[in-house]
Parts: sequence; structure tokens; C-alpha cells
Amino acid sequence: MLFFVVLSSLGFLAFYLSRSSKEMPKNWQQLRSEILWQYLGVRGLIEDYYLRKYNRVDLFKQPGRVAVITGGNRGIGADVVEKLLQCEINVIMGVRNPKEAQKNIELRVDFSELDGVKIYYEYLDTGNLKSVRQFAKSVQQKFNKIDILINNAGIMASPYYLTEDGFESQFAVNYLGHFLLTHLLLPQLKAAGTQDLNSRVVNVSSCANILGEINMNDINGTKDYYPPNAYNQSKLAQVLFTRHLQLLINQDEDLHLQVHAVHPGVVDTDLFVHSSTTYVPWFKKLLFKNTEEGSRTIVYAAISPKIEGKGGSYLSNCVRVPVNPLAKDKVLREKFFDFTCKLLDISFFPK
Ligand SMILES: NC(=O)c1ccc[n+]([C@@H]2O[C@H](COP(=O)([O-])OP(=O)(O)OC[C@H]3O[C@@H](n4cnc5c(N)ncnc54)[C@H](OP(=O)(O)O)[C@@H]3O)[C@@H](O)[C@H]2O)c1
Repeated sequence: MLFFVVLSSLGFLAFYLSRSSKEMPKNWQQLRSEILWQYLGVRGLIEDYYLRKYNRVDLFKQPGRVAVITGGNRGIGADVVEKLLQCEINVIMGVRNPKEAQKNIELRVDFSELDGVKIYYEYLDTGNLKSVRQFAKSVQQKFNKIDILINNAGIMASPYYLTEDGFESQFAVNYLGHFLLTHLLLPQLKAAGTQDLNSRVVNVSSCANILGEINMNDINGTKDYYPPNAYNQSKLAQVLFTRHLQLLINQDEDLHLQVHAVHPGVVDTDLFVHSSTTYVPWFKKLLFKNTEEGSRTIVYAAISPKIEGKGGSYLSNCVRVPVNPLAKDKVLREKFFDFTCKLLDISFFPK
């Protein structure tokens, strides 16, 4: 009896401390989501452990090329920026606090070693469509060719709120803003790609896409909102976008562009700020990847010659891994792509 009580108390404690959100599940549906989420987290850690030998990227000099990254002032993105600069790629960071971003990057990177490499810190809030348009404009004014776009900025399991444009925050910040940015920078991405070297878009998704469902009838998830479900949806949305965009690109001979979706691994960053794992920071330090390890698959997707011409893939630890079966559904992908264009009032490929 005592054994049973001790065991179930330990089980509850483990559940309590590894919740995706600080909110407790309020009904069976939410409890189910939470249990699946925790199962996925453990699976992600095991996957990172077994695939760690593949998690490698070779950096090489590519002077004159230009990369745009959303976020990048901290977390995994800061290590991505550092690697891009080591490759002598010029970088434009879209960040909410340009001054702070500059301070952080200058602390990490010795620019005296990087002759002629340029870095720009521009204001961007991916959760605000007006800001995305302004950022795209300022990028276009600086460069008429963009070789790499990394859609990295993200939030996870945040409590329910609607952005100024009226969208659920995770859907807006993680997916919708990046969809619009990719559309707006398409002419510059198109200009950079050549028959020998594609330009690239990297959507930083997550293994959480596996649990995602797309609810076009209630995209904000207003009925029974549970934060991790909205994250799962936004991350699946990025994978559907990746696949459908690659399909459309492949139909246009003049478009030398490839698109990838990436899971960076389970990485110790502030992304978990709304999760109860913040109560046990040592647990994350011990078991999660560090940000340098987390950055490798993203940079691999952005520059590796090994995947040249192999767009549309979903990568983790620098290898292709299985994706949510919904991402294989062509009809759903097309419907959701068109649905997103309607939300944004755009035609993705302007005539
Ligand atoms: N960490 C993981 O285990 C993990 C696993 C799977 C996928 N990912 C994905 O990896 C990406 C990077 O996450 P991370 O772990 O590095 O998290 P992080 O340390 O919390 O960094 C998030 C980055 O996104 C930026 N950001 C957030 N909201 C933004 C907004 N509205 N506009 C512009 N920038 C915004 C942040 O900038 P501010 O400083 O302005 O907030 C920061 O640079 C995310 O897309 C995340 O979903 C991470």
C-alpha cells in the first residue's frame, strides 16, 4: 500500500513538474493533450540522444551572401546568427529590441575577425502584420537579393491572447507573420536563386507538429483553449506551408528556391517560460540540448550542400524524420494555404 502511495505521488510530481503550461488541465480533453505532450517530450529527448551523431553541420565561407532571420537575439537563433557570420554571410535580424540584440550579438562575436561582413538589427514583431510589412520593406531597401530566410522567432504555450490583428498569439507569431514575410521577400529570394545554387527558406517548426491539428473553423482555438494545442497547431501549420510551397515552387522552372521545416531538438531556452519545467532548471540543463547543438539543424537546412535541390523536407538532427501524417494530405495543404492567403488578403505568387 505504502509502495503504491509513494509511486503514485512520484508519478504525480513528475507530471506536475513537466507540464507544458503552468495552467492545470481543466477537463479530460486537456488532460489527454497534456499527457500526449509529455510523451512527445520524452520521445524528443530519446530521439536527440539516438540521432546525436548526425547532428553536425560543416561551416564554410560564403562571402557576399545574405540571410534574414526572425528573432536571433537570444536562444537558438543567437547561435544560428553566430554560425552564419562565421560563414561570412551578411545577416539581417528582425527583432523586437534592436539595441538589445546588437548588445547580445557583439558580446558573442568578434567582428574584427570578420572582415567586411555586415549585420543589421531591424525592428520586427512577427505577431503584428503591419510590422512584418515594414520590416520586409526595410530589407528590400537594403538588398535586392536574399539567399536565406530563417523563420525562427517563436513563442510556446502562452496564455490566450489575441494580437492586434485579431489572431491567437502563437498562430500569429509562429506561423502567420512568417507566411506573410516569406511572401513579401519572395522577389528577393527569387532573385538570389540560380540553377546552380538555390536560395532557401527554413521554417523552424517543432516535433510538436506531430500532435497538431488544423482547425480552420476556429483557428484561434477559442472553444476550450489549451495553450500547447495552439502551439502544436502553429508548428504543424509551418510544416504544411513548407510542403505546399515547395510543391508550387517545383512547378515553376524559374524559381530556384528550396524550403525546409526543422525541429531543432529539445533545447534549453526561455521558450519554456510558460512551462512548469522552469521550476526544475537543472533538469533542462542535464537532459536538453544546449543552444549551440540546437542551432545545427537550422544552419544545416540553410547552407548544407548535402541537401541542395532536396527541398520540402522536415529535418531533425540534420536528417529527415517522419512528420505528422496530415502533412502528407495534399488537399489539406492546399486548402490551408489558400485559407491563409485569404486571412492575409494576398495572392502568394503575385502576377
Ligand atoms: N527550445 C526548444 O526546445 C525548441 C523545440 C522545438 C522548436 N523550437 C523553436 O525554435 C525557435 C526558437 O526558439 P528558442 O528555443 O530559441 O526560444 P527563445 O529562447 O524563447 O527565443 C525566441 C526568439 O523568438 C523571438 N520572438 C518571440 N516573439 C516574437 C515576436 N512577436 N516578434 C519577433 N520575435 C519574437 C524572441 O525575441 P524577444 O527577445 O523579443 O522575445 C527570441 O529571439 C522557435 O520557433 C521555437 O518554436 C524550440
